[in-house]
Amino acid sequence: MVSTLPAAPKSAVEETLLTPRFYTTDFDKAAEMDLSEGETELQAMLTEMRADYNRHHFVRNEAFKQQNWDHIQGAERQAFVDYLERSCVSEFSGFLLFKELSRKLKGRNPLLAEMFGLMARDEARHAGFLNKAMADFGISLDLAKLTKKRTYTFFPVEWVIYAVYLSEKIGYWRYILIFHHLEKHPEHKFYPLFNYFESWCQDENRHGDVFKALLRSQPNMWKTWQSRLWSRFFLLSVFATHSLTVHERGTFYDMLGLDATEFDTAVVRETNNTSARAFPVILNVDHPEFFKRLDRCADRNLKLKQIAEGTGSKLWKTVRKLPLIAGIVGDLLRLYLIKPIDAEAMRATVR
Ligand SMILES: [Fe+2]
Ligand SMILES: [Fe+2]
Repeated sequence: MVSTLPAAPKSAVEETLLTPRFYTTDFDKAAEMDLSEGETELQAMLTEMRADYNRHHFVRNEAFKQQNWDHIQGAERQAFVDYLERSCVSEFSGFLLFKELSRKLKGRNPLLAEMFGLMARDEARHAGFLNKAMADFGISLDLAKLTKKRTYTFFPVEWVIYAVYLSEKIGYWRYILIFHHLEKHPEHKFYPLFNYFESWCQDENRHGDVFKALLRSQPNMWKTWQSRLWSRFFLLSVFATHSLTVHERGTFYDMLGLDATEFDTAVVRETNNTSARAFPVILNVDHPEFFKRLDRCADRNLKLKQIAEGTGSKLWKTVRKLPLIAGIVGDLLRLYLIKPIDAEAMRATVR
C-alpha cells in the first residue's frame, strides 16, 4: 500500500549556512582548460562513464510499494524528510552545474562537454529517486521552481574542482558507510532507499575520480604553495560543514542506530585519506586537537540553533550568539593552522 498523504509541492527550502548551494562558474575558462597532462586518465574515465553501469539501478522495486510509511511519525518523520530534502537538493545542485557546464562547453571542449553530460545524467537519476522517496512521505520538491528561485554562488573553475571533488568523495563515504552499517544491522533499515546506496555511491566515486583527473591535469592546482593553502581551506570547509550537519541531524542517525559522532569521524577520516590521491596536502586528523575542536564547533553550532529557535528579543539572541560564533571561528582558524600532511611526498604509497 502506498501512503495516502497527498504530495504537496514544495519549492522553498529553508536556507541556512549549511544548506546545499547552487553554483555557477567561469565557463569560458573551463572551455579553454589545457587537459593535455591528464588526457589518458580523462579518456579512461570517459569510457567508464559511457558504460553507464547503473543504467537499470534506479528503479523503485516492490519494497517501496508494499508498505505504508505512516508509522514513521513526529520528530523521526521530520528528521528523515529533512535528510531526503537536503540530499535531493544537493544531488540536484550537482545536476544543474554539470548540465550547464556540458551545455556551455559543447563544441568548444568535446571531452569535458560529454563528461559533464554523463555526470548530469547520474545526478538527475539520484535527485529524481530521492524526490520519489519524498513523495512517499507526502512531500515533493518542485525542482523547476527551485532552479529559478535559488541564488547561484559564483566559484572560479579551480574552486569548483576542489569543492566538487571533495563533495563527491565525501558523498561516496557517507553512502557506503551507511550501507555497510545497515548490512550488519538490518533491523535499522527502516526504508528501502538504503538498499540502493552501494551502487549509488559508485556513481559518486566515479564522479570524484573525474574531478581528480581534472585536478591533476592542472599543475597549478597541486604544484604551487597557493594550491596547498587552498587544499587545506577546502578540506576544512567541507569537513566542518559535514560535522555540523551530522550533529544537527542526530535524530536521523539515531533511527539508523548509528552514533553520529563516530559516523562523522569515520567519514572525515576516510575522505581525508582518499583526498591524498588528488590534493597536494591533506589534514592531520590524528592531531589530538583535530576532532576535539571540530566537535566543539558542532556543539556550539547546535547551541546557536537552539538560541535562534528559542524565545527572546533579537538583540538578546545576538548577544548570546556572539561568543559562540567567535568560538567557532577561533577553532576553525586553529584547525586551519595545524600542520598538514604532505600528500605529494606520500603519493607513491597511497592507493
Ligand atoms: Fe549523486
Ligand atoms: Fe555525484
